[in-house]
Amino acid sequence: MKNKGYFISFEGIDGSGKSTQIQKLAGFLKSVGFEVIVTREPGGSVGGEEIRKLLLQGEVDRWSAEAEILLFTAARRDHLEKIILPAIDDGKIVICDRFTDSTRMYQGMRVPNLRNLVDTLNEKVINLDPDLTILIDIDPEIGLKRAKSRKTVEERFEDFGVDLQLKMRKGFIELAKEFGNRIEVVNGQQSVDKLAQDICSLVKVKLL
Ligand SMILES: Nc1ncnc2c1ncn2[C@@H]1O[C@H](COP(=O)(O)OP(=O)(O)O)[C@@H](O)[C@H]1O
Ligand SMILES: [Mg+2]
Repeated sequence: MKNKGYFISFEGIDGSGKSTQIQKLAGFLKSVGFEVIVTREPGGSVGGEEIRKLLLQGEVDRWSAEAEILLFTAARRDHLEKIILPAIDDGKIVICDRFTDSTRMYQGMRVPNLRNLVDTLNEKVINLDPDLTILIDIDPEIGLKRAKSRKTVEERFEDFGVDLQLKMRKGFIELAKEFGNRIEVVNGQQSVDKLAQDICSLVKVKLL
């Protein structure tokens, strides 16, 4: 076992199975003796969770993409200071449900050229990449059907509809090529247990 902590993020469109697989992976890692923290974005810290409500609830057109990028980045900075960095310094494994890659996609692709703003802010005030990112790839029709069956108030992004999710799916695959050293793509259209095995194998290579 290594002394330094390790940072894993999960990415993928709504309903791809991130939350489900994070619980599975955390369970496995704990069972083999790692200290694991599961967290999420936007949110994770007290301040981050307050910003989460502003971002995920309410009308679809509540914020411009630019305003959203600033809110996401503020939430991420707080999350980093209060939760992620202390845990990594403490030698723990941090598993985060979405991170900067989601902002690169959802906000960075909504308006042309906004990806630059996400990257610039990321470099200036976040400056931490996950050691490993698991990207769960899935057909948006299947993902949205799964997501909608959950019935929560946090539907702002789901309400952008299937066209946006299609664009996001493609964008995520491109991103996996751009950050080939860190992002691993897995197939979300298989059973929970089969997918969990695939993810476990990837993580074992890095950690065990
Ligand atoms: N591999 C799978 N096959 C079928 N249903 C799944 C699978 N993974 C997750 N689900 C279900 O689909 C819904 C969305 O999964 P969730 O893990 O919440 O996705 P995400 O966090 O990516 O939005 C949940 O109701 C979950 O139980
Ligand atoms: Mg989820």
